[in-house]
Amino acid sequence: MSSSSSSSRKATLVVVVLSLMILGVRPFIHPMMAAESLSCSDIAQGLLSSCQEYVTGDDPPLAPQDSECCSFVTNPNVFCVCDLPIPAGMVNETALNKVIDACGLKVPPEHSNCAGFHIGGEGE
Ligand SMILES: *[C@@H]1O[C@H](CO)[C@@H](O)[C@H](O)[C@H]1NC(C)=O
Repeated sequence: MSSSSSSSRKATLVVVVLSLMILGVRPFIHPMMAAESLSCSDIAQGLLSSCQEYVTGDDPPLAPQDSECCSFVTNPNVFCVCDLPIPAGMVNETALNKVIDACGLKVPPEHSNCAGFHIGGEGE
């Protein structure tokens, strides 16, 4: 009868974790959520947080194809963010285009002006 204490502690932990999830405490948007189910502001949020390291600073690294960043960049609905006010201050447009390239996103001409950025222009 003394072995029940460890399993009840485990149960408590599960309850705490579940409560946090139900309360909507999520530190970041999980990229494995069905891409189509993300709202435009989810996508914008995901881009800002997961791509930041690739588009800021002096000589940022290329985003790996399997990165969280690319999972947002290649979201079927990604161009909806072009209509949002994006805080552009720190974004390096050259690096942004490299990320778009590295993730394999093709930018249709009608989206080449996106939230104040010129994207997708080839051959610079
Ligand atoms: C922008 O990023 C490119 C590389 O992607 C780098 O060569 C350039 O120095 C960066 N510009 C600034 C102002 O940091």
